[in-house]
Amino acid sequence: MPEPKHFITFRDLSLGELKAVLGRAAVLKDERARGAYRRDHLAGRSVVMFFSKNSTRTRVSFECAISELGGRAIVINMGDSQWTRGEPLSHTARVLSRYVSAVVIRHTKEAELAELARCSRIPVINALTDERHPCQVLGDLLTVAERLGGVEGIREQTVCWIGDGANMLNTWLEAAAVFGFALRFSCPPGYLPDGGIMSRAQAENPAVRHFGSPAEAARGATVVTTDVFASMGFENERERRLRDFRGYQVNAALMAGAAPGAVFLHCLPAHPGEEVTDEVIESPASAVWDEAENRLHVQKALLEYLVPAL
Ligand code: CP
Repeated sequence: MPEPKHFITFRDLSLGELKAVLGRAAVLKDERARGAYRRDHLAGRSVVMFFSKNSTRTRVSFECAISELGGRAIVINMGDSQWTRGEPLSHTARVLSRYVSAVVIRHTKEAELAELARCSRIPVINALTDERHPCQVLGDLLTVAERLGGVEGIREQTVCWIGDGANMLNTWLEAAAVFGFALRFSCPPGYLPDGGIMSRAQAENPAVRHFGSPAEAARGATVVTTDVFASMGFENERERRLRDFRGYQVNAALMAGAAPGAVFLHCLPAHPGEEVTDEVIESPASAVWDEAENRLHVQKALLEYLVPAL
């Protein structure tokens, strides 16, 4: 049996594979809009999803994706499973590989996903960890492609990230390294992204740059994006972060410095009035609802690609 392909980071797939997934997602989206929902790629098969953190979009979009591919989703609160009672992940991996066709996981510790993948005969898909959120950025890139020049146009874009250097920025850094687009980011002092991910991306792509000023980072950007100031798991730092992130809000003044026709993205959920104003979310520049929808389409294409046809 061939080694399974996983999607834990953007580096698990080649640029060609990522572009093919995006292209396929666009086709699936178009067909679905014309009423062609059901396919049989996963017919008779199941996918298990583990969650140790809250979710709305990821859970619903993956469940719909699996069902629209003809399969069945088994959703497990990780705390209800033996995973959190210390069963060796190598055992869990070998058992799950005999039941289901893929594992989708939202969890704090990405090292545990890597360990599960190492021992699995089925694909492991990262549905958010403290380090990365690759399914989200894949959906974001489909949105960029739709608005700004197609999949081949992604490498021509200048993406601006404002805010916290956590899982979303880490993933944008890896996406910029793989796709070659410019990434201008501005994080408050003390909130830079993972040092290893950042330096590797900067070594591979000189157009990945940090700016001390959000306005400077946004200058000329074709895409402006942000996330909540206190990501999941950091809620107890909320008051401190509200102080530390003063001046890092995406608002009309900041968008005015971006390129004409710039697109605003936010992975959601948002805290309007904090990291972004309602005015920007509701503006014509905002693609946040398409971005949320695109999670469904990219995840269908990803499942089709990673799970071998029977
Ligand atoms: N953007 C995102 O992952 O949303 P959920 O946390 O609702 O899944």
